[in-house]
Amino acid sequence: MSSTGGLAERALRTVVVTGASGGIGSVTALRLAARGWDVIGTVRSQEKADRLVGVAAAQGCAVRTVVLDVADPVSCQEAMGRVEEMSGGGAWAVVNNAGVPQAGALQDVSDEQARHLLEVNLLGAMRLCRLALPGMVRRGEGRIVNISSGLGRVPWPMGGWYSASKHALSALTHCLRVEVAHAGVRVSLVEPGAFATAMLDRAVIDLDETRRGAAAGYERSRTLFASVNRRVPGPEPVARTVARVLSARRPSPRYTVGLDARLLVPLHGMTPLWLTDRVKHAVTGLPRTSATAGTAQVRAGQETV
Ligand SMILES: NC(=O)c1ccc[n+]([C@@H]2O[C@H](COP(=O)([O-])OP(=O)(O)OC[C@H]3O[C@@H](n4cnc5c(N)ncnc54)[C@H](OP(=O)(O)O)[C@@H]3O)[C@@H](O)[C@H]2O)c1
Repeated sequence: MSSTGGLAERALRTVVVTGASGGIGSVTALRLAARGWDVIGTVRSQEKADRLVGVAAAQGCAVRTVVLDVADPVSCQEAMGRVEEMSGGGAWAVVNNAGVPQAGALQDVSDEQARHLLEVNLLGAMRLCRLALPGMVRRGEGRIVNISSGLGRVPWPMGGWYSASKHALSALTHCLRVEVAHAGVRVSLVEPGAFATAMLDRAVIDLDETRRGAAAGYERSRTLFASVNRRVPGPEPVARTVARVLSARRPSPRYTVGLDARLLVPLHGMTPLWLTDRVKHAVTGLPRTSATAGTAQVRAGQETV
């Protein structure tokens, strides 16, 4: 894949990275800045802004910041207005990275919790696309990179709303790519597997907050999330991928990052549902049969009609 933009060109291209206070967002913002892009990282407080600017300076690069809560339409409008002023015409690229996990059994997650998750992971991301697009279309070029998840293609029990939000983000990203291609705007989806960030810690807290009584699935999921977070690598591969997407003359529609996601996503797609259900029961500890149902077997098969 050929690349675009030498150093001088990159310095003139403003890239907005949302959720740049930590995890994937901060390493992405710092990597892009180190590679010469004009980076504006969005954060949720001035304190987090100061911290990001300080880390960038210590690494010998510069990141500018804007305060943004992607779940708040007014904040999105104001932040993109600031980006327009700071960049002299609007962002060349937006990396929609801000996200929350909202783990918990579907029967326990409230409307309010689900709505917040969708505001951040889905509506917020698409709202920023909408706000950034007029400038991109006017200039006849631009990039949108939406950070989804391998779990957007592997629906995961005890994290159902998260999977749903990423599945929907993926659908909208693929539609948007076709809708804006004629205007020179390139749209890509990045699907990371598991990487060690605060997100899995947050998912453990979600489980503690949503858990009611001794509901099945919670204990095993808690142990799973915590142990995955200890074992997986840091988020640098995702940052490298975003840098590749922005540098590519013709970026791919989709990038799946991490060995786990590159194996599990295609494997899940080609395995019958009854078998993936079994694996999910085994991994989450969610029982396949009622405790009172004796040996009755539930076979969640896929019927072909
Ligand atoms: N880590 C993984 O294993 C993994 C795997 C697949 C996909 N992802 C995706 O990668 C993205 C980044 O996740 P991460 O792992 O880096 O998580 P993280 O360390 O928890 O970072 C999440 C970022 O999103 C920000 N954020 C949360 N709510 C926000 C809101 N309402 N408005 C603006 N910003 C908000 C957070 O800001 P605060 O610091 O202010 O909370 C933080 O900067 C997410 O979209 C996530 O779904 C992560």
